Amino acid sequence: MSDKTKNDTNAQSSASAQSSASTMWGGRFSAGPSAVMEKINASIDVDRRMYAQDIAGSKAHCTMLVAQGIISSADGDAILAGLDTILREIEAGDFPFKTELEDIHMNVEARLRELIGDPAGRLHTARSRNDQVATDFKLWMRDAVDHTDQALADLQSALLDQAEAHADTVMPGFTHLQAAQPVTFGHHLLAYVEMLFRDRGRLADCRQRLNECPLGAAALAGTSFPIDRAQTGTALGFDRPAANSMDAVSDRDFALEYLSAASICAMHLSRLAEEMVIWSSAQFDFVRMSDAFSTGSSIMPQKRNPDAAELVRAKVGRINGAYQGLLIMMKGLPLTYGKDMQEDKEQTFAAVDDLALCIAAMTGMVADMTANKQAMHAAAGEGFTTATDLADWLVRVLDMPFRDAHHVTGRVVALAEKKGCGLEDLSLDDMQGVEPRITEDIFAVLGVDNSVRSRTSQGGTSPDNVRAAVAEARKRMQSGGTS
Ligand code: ARG
Repeated sequence: MSDKTKNDTNAQSSASAQSSASTMWGGRFSAGPSAVMEKINASIDVDRRMYAQDIAGSKAHCTMLVAQGIISSADGDAILAGLDTILREIEAGDFPFKTELEDIHMNVEARLRELIGDPAGRLHTARSRNDQVATDFKLWMRDAVDHTDQALADLQSALLDQAEAHADTVMPGFTHLQAAQPVTFGHHLLAYVEMLFRDRGRLADCRQRLNECPLGAAALAGTSFPIDRAQTGTALGFDRPAANSMDAVSDRDFALEYLSAASICAMHLSRLAEEMVIWSSAQFDFVRMSDAFSTGSSIMPQKRNPDAAELVRAKVGRINGAYQGLLIMMKGLPLTYGKDMQEDKEQTFAAVDDLALCIAAMTGMVADMTANKQAMHAAAGEGFTTATDLADWLVRVLDMPFRDAHHVTGRVVALAEKKGCGLEDLSLDDMQGVEPRITEDIFAVLGVDNSVRSRTSQGGTSPDNVRAAVAEARKRMQSGGTS
């Protein structure tokens, strides 16, 4: 680009668009785009985040072109050095991003031309922005998968530490948000560790299917140049080149898979967030969130609001919105590339950011929270939560069929309800009034501590089970967390 053109570019955005754009594709155009066209067409504000991937892809492509004798090594050296300069400029915040150059690919290429002149024009041999953008986006998403996985592992560690500390802490377990049976707090937290293992498994699946390289598909049909797609794919850490050039440039299922896994993961985080909102309320008072993850009220001095948990609960909507948005954008597109697909990145990037923030906030909340063991223990016994233990005793000791035991227990519960007391507060006479064969031994199973201790079946809530499950989960974490 001449100095004169550069100055024009700086001075007048719309008129300059013609001269700048014509560098790339303006051969058959006599007029430049309108300002509105430029605005709707530009993606640089979004896709500049892929600069490192774009430059890595270009370097791999250039190296391959030289190796295959498609461009000279002198041109290749100039291109590689120029790309390194551009990488440094961008990282130093010195790079002049231009809207009139549409996207990251054309911004980089135009700057390369400014820096090294004519050899820059050879970089795009045997390549199109279609395979370029698919490659960049996949590389970016692959990093996103890895970062999300690491963040989830950190959250699991925080949950495991709390689960271990609360292996013996008894709380009510709920169904229908009605007190159901006593459980241990550690066991409750370990339920989320399991969910996060599956979330990480879904990300691992996504990564594995994603890892095929689109580069070399060119616009859609491949190229007549003798390129080596295995070389570029390997250089960029892909497992293999994508098999079909039309598929390679036209699908975004890898982003959809991430967003679908992210939506499910965000749903899990949202449920935990909802529980924290409930647990930290004055009425429950099971858990106290740290100052660092609570906010005050501007009018009510007593308030400690669980804002971070509420926002985690809210963000699942945005993350799933990104999934829906991309799915609907893609669903009617004929093969191969359509400019609609430029809209694939903005919401996907936002969802990756949102999820990272949710996981980080949740990790902080979990690590910092303190449990009110007394309140949890007291609540664990409310609502006749050991009724199942009573029924099980009737089955075990009196050899009653479970259905009959259920009926007898229901009558004992009704009696306690009538008397306004707990099951353990009834006298032996009261119990024997319902079922004469009941003995003093029954009282042993009516306490919540005995109840949780007795639940030793595989996957059950007993403190010993929790301690073993924490150890087992830590082992799984060491082997990558996805098996
Ligand atoms: N900015 C475009 C995108 O994100 C790059 C691909 C453009 N390709 C094309 N044929 N216009 O999708």
